[in-house]
Amino acid sequence: MSPLACKNLLLFILSQFILALCLFAYLQPSRNQGPEPRAGNPSALTTQPGNSPTALQAGSELIILLWTWPFGHPVALQKCSELFGIRDCHITANRSWYHKANAVIVHHRDVCSSPEKLPQGLRSPSQHWIWFNLESPSHSPNLGFMDNLFNLTMSYRRDSDIFTPYGWLEVLSQPQNFSIPAKSKLVAWVISNWNPASRRVQYYEELKKYLHVDIYGSHHMPLPRDKHFSTLSQYKFYLAFENSLHEDYITEKLWNNALGSGAVPVVCGPSRENYERFLPPDAFIHINDFPNAQGLAQYLQELDKDPARYQRYFQWRTWLKPSERSFWAIHFCKACRALQMTETYQTRTSLAKWFH
Ligand SMILES: *[C@@H]1O[C@H](CO)[C@@H](O)[C@H](O)[C@H]1NC(C)=O
Ligand SMILES: *[C@@H]1O[C@H](CO)[C@@H](O)[C@H](O)[C@H]1NC(C)=O
Ligand SMILES: *[C@@H]1O[C@H](CO)[C@@H](O)[C@H](O)[C@H]1NC(C)=O
Repeated sequence: MSPLACKNLLLFILSQFILALCLFAYLQPSRNQGPEPRAGNPSALTTQPGNSPTALQAGSELIILLWTWPFGHPVALQKCSELFGIRDCHITANRSWYHKANAVIVHHRDVCSSPEKLPQGLRSPSQHWIWFNLESPSHSPNLGFMDNLFNLTMSYRRDSDIFTPYGWLEVLSQPQNFSIPAKSKLVAWVISNWNPASRRVQYYEELKKYLHVDIYGSHHMPLPRDKHFSTLSQYKFYLAFENSLHEDYITEKLWNNALGSGAVPVVCGPSRENYERFLPPDAFIHINDFPNAQGLAQYLQELDKDPARYQRYFQWRTWLKPSERSFWAIHFCKACRALQMTETYQTRTSLAKWFH
């Protein structure tokens, strides 16, 4: 490993460690305090008669109602005690639990077509409404009628109350010799939503003048689900081009398609600095590293002819690995954990102002 790469990796691991330490220190006092509300937060004291089970009551199982299944499709749930070693929550999509629920998770895409899709019944003051959204602001219409309703936000944004990214890195307990999958092809891209006016398609139009890209997805080569990883892993590079550019909006295109299949991501999305919050600097190539698509094409061709240099994009894998595909159960258990640990919640007066 080159000294620079080594230094970068160490810095990254160190920063993750400090972050974990801060988080631990932050959560510690609230744990010790148990069910008592924290001093100076009178709002935590408001428990209504008849609504005695508050989020803070130890021993009782919190009830979380999923107002809808994500995109209307039931998903597998898992015990939070098994996922996170915390007390279980009763997570259900059965609306008969509405009045008893300590929290209601509202998935933006399933309610944004009309305010009538939101819960309508009388709402207990101690019930938390959680606004849940994994789409970017460009694809999150009608935020306006979500104002003054929600107590917690749950999204891919780091500053959400409940942070549910599309993926993350895990530190290995033992260093590993990562073996790079056998490579026979150069660049792949999977795209289903082809919008000629989008930045990513325009960039591709420029790039293809200098470099051949194999394109999969509707109107292009088919990519059956069971061939996903075996197909993409043959490529040295994968174009992880996001559909819109927003802070922290880094999706499964990076986590699953590129990193999950062992192809080096070429990213188009938020800034390099933003990506470096989630990944070591030498785990990806950013289109902004180059003045234009020609420069990127030239660089990829150089790496193609220089295996030692290409392999440096895998050095970080000695100590880190991408999370396995993130699934809904993890997101919901994060909500369960947050409800058990946090004591007071604000109301997001304007979601539209925050989420843009
Ligand atoms: C929903 O919950 C109620 C109350 O526990 C129960 O009677 C009903 O059968 C449940 N419905 C479904 C579809 O599971
Ligand atoms: C949640 O937000 C609602 C709507 O603004 C508010 O009435 C309620 O008091 C808040 N609940 C908590 C527990 O903060
Ligand atoms: C990785 O490979 C090197 C050299 O081939 C070897 O010395 C080392 O023990 C291996 N480490 C692991 C964790 O397998």
